[in-house]
Amino acid sequence: MGILLNIIYLIATVTFVVGLKMLGHPETAKKGNLIAAAGMGLAIVGTIFVHEQQVSPIIYILIGAAILIGSIIGWLIAIKVEMTKMPELVSLFNGFGGASAALIGLVEYGKNVNNATQSTTIVSGIIIGAITFSGSLIAWGKLNGSLKSVVRIPYYNIINNITIIGIIIFAAFMVATGVDSQLVLYALLATGLIYGILFVLPIGGADMPVVISLLNSLTGIAAAITGILYNNMVMLVGGILVGSAGIILTVAMCKAMNRTLGSVIFGAFGGAAATAGENKALGSIKSTTASDAAIMMNYANNVVIVPGYGLAVAQAQHVIHELEELLTKRGVNVKYAIHPVAGRMPGHMNVLLAESNVEYNMLVEMEDINPQFSNTDIVLVVGANDVVNPAAHNNPASPIYGMPILDVENAKHIIVNKRSMNAGYAGIENELFYNTKTSMLFGDAKAALTDLVAEMKKIQ
Ligand code: TAP
Repeated sequence: MGILLNIIYLIATVTFVVGLKMLGHPETAKKGNLIAAAGMGLAIVGTIFVHEQQVSPIIYILIGAAILIGSIIGWLIAIKVEMTKMPELVSLFNGFGGASAALIGLVEYGKNVNNATQSTTIVSGIIIGAITFSGSLIAWGKLNGSLKSVVRIPYYNIINNITIIGIIIFAAFMVATGVDSQLVLYALLATGLIYGILFVLPIGGADMPVVISLLNSLTGIAAAITGILYNNMVMLVGGILVGSAGIILTVAMCKAMNRTLGSVIFGAFGGAAATAGENKALGSIKSTTASDAAIMMNYANNVVIVPGYGLAVAQAQHVIHELEELLTKRGVNVKYAIHPVAGRMPGHMNVLLAESNVEYNMLVEMEDINPQFSNTDIVLVVGANDVVNPAAHNNPASPIYGMPILDVENAKHIIVNKRSMNAGYAGIENELFYNTKTSMLFGDAKAALTDLVAEMKKIQ
């Protein structure tokens, strides 16, 4: 039995690693996800059925019912969720992962108070799990708009640091004394929950995805800790993979926004209010029509499309693909420029464009496309704002100063599609819209692109 279970765990571990590797490319990502999920299913079935203990049938019924209910809820949520709501869902999932680790810790603590190694593992699981749970719920509330984006109590940094140090001392006391009290145990849980709230409350704006990725990696660490507790290799490896992948993503996103992790956790981004309307100091704007834009693009040699959050909101991925196919048929060289934090979650634009079957080799990463803008006749910016904002280069006072951007202003002409002059996620004005080379094509992305395609078809 033991050997069989180890073989099952080994197979599951291999599927996790292979699945993760396949997630790195859009063409293989779906299959990779299924392979890893199948491995996880195998590990669960193995854990439940392959052992030598006598288990009462009622336990199987309870586990089966829990799996069934969880699967139905998960399945319903997953098929219903809109792409733009994905970060919220990820946040909730992280929270439940953390809650599971904390609950396991609560159950196991009393049985292990006399073993310092085991109780260290357990209190760590409770603390990390509780922080992840409450922090993720706050992040979820901020993302769906039910909580204010940034809440800063006076001296929040000092209070947060004192709280976490206090929690660590409290946990060390529990391990050292082997105290076996439900009250003390629940007090530890409560302090972890409070710290999770305090930790995420002051963070807002464009830093939220970084926090979610960090919480995701904490979920992995909590699972790995539980793996150590139960001496369960597949849980340990799965946790380590989630933990390390989350950390790598966190660092990659910080790099894409030119922020350090410290400045995300302790910094002040996201407090700026959105500015709206035409800014006289920046000059005047020029608007264009679908028919003029169609003519310009039809006679261009090189066109680069810059997708952003607005494309996702408008669900205009299919019509932009139609436009791109039309242009390509007419001999125009078309590419998509992908900024690493365009949209609202990592890889948002890649997923969106893959959904409408855009060829993956047409997507060009920021570092590779930036030198090509000076040879580009027309850049079509669709629902993107911050990721093309030259303030990142020109304005040291801007909150996005230093963030790498797509240098679209180097192109010969820029057409920007959005609904109004409203700001993007960072809540700041964009001087690109006032550039003499820029024409604004106002309107919802789907409607505007549909008009553009119709006008394009009229041109022989
Ligand atoms: P944003 O800067 O948020 O700009 C999106 C623009 O789309 C808005 O200015 C909006 O202008 C327009 N828009 C909204 N709905 C539209 C519609 N139906 N049709 C046409 N336009 C529409 O987006 P971005 O350039 O993609 O930049 C992403 C920002 O989000 C960055 O600040 C980034 O740091 C942050 N962020 C990124 C992530 C990740 S990991 N990708 C996660 C969270 C936050 P109108 O209102 O005038 O239409």
